Amino acid sequence: MRSIDEQGYHFEEWLTPEQIAKDVQQVAKQISADYKDKEPLFVVVLNGAFVFAADLIRALDADIRCEETFIRVSSYWGMSSKGQLEFIVPLQQVVDQRDVIIVEDIVDTGLTIHQLKAHMRGLGASSVRVASMLFKPNKLEYEDSKPDYVGHEITDEFVVGYGLDFDGFVRNLDAIYKVKE
Ligand code: IMP
Repeated sequence: MRSIDEQGYHFEEWLTPEQIAKDVQQVAKQISADYKDKEPLFVVVLNGAFVFAADLIRALDADIRCEETFIRVSSYWGMSSKGQLEFIVPLQQVVDQRDVIIVEDIVDTGLTIHQLKAHMRGLGASSVRVASMLFKPNKLEYEDSKPDYVGHEITDEFVVGYGLDFDGFVRNLDAIYKVKE
């Protein structure tokens, strides 16, 4: 099993690239079926979701007509939630009357998604769903933030890699690693 050390913490490989690929395929299959006759707009939450989003959109059925746009918010620092959402890169695209799919790396307390969903609805989106590579159901504080499409569920552990960072680093890892106490 592979492991890495980052800022004094030890992380062990949890989801291999092969497992991640299976999870992504499964999510893409569901989205392809649900959005067959629609033109979804993927709103990718930077920075973490860019890796998952790149794999996800390429795994969709080729006949899905879709667009992608990006938003950057900040609600989290280090290993504990900051509890506030700040728009660092605001939405660049009109979401009015669009079927929006927010793409996240991980849903933890759900605060980010809770606020982003309200934001999209306020801008007139016809529908708003969420695709997240990871979901921590035990940590969820906002019921409406339960993702519609989930790659893999996880308990409370802190994870990195495949877009997920630790203070900005280790997003580049091709697997998802769990912190070891
Ligand atoms: P939420 O708003 O509490 O759901 O937090 C969502 C954000 O927190 C994610 O987009 C991540 O940036 C960050 N986050 C939550 N858990 C982890 C983790 O285990 N590793 C890395 N980032 C995390």
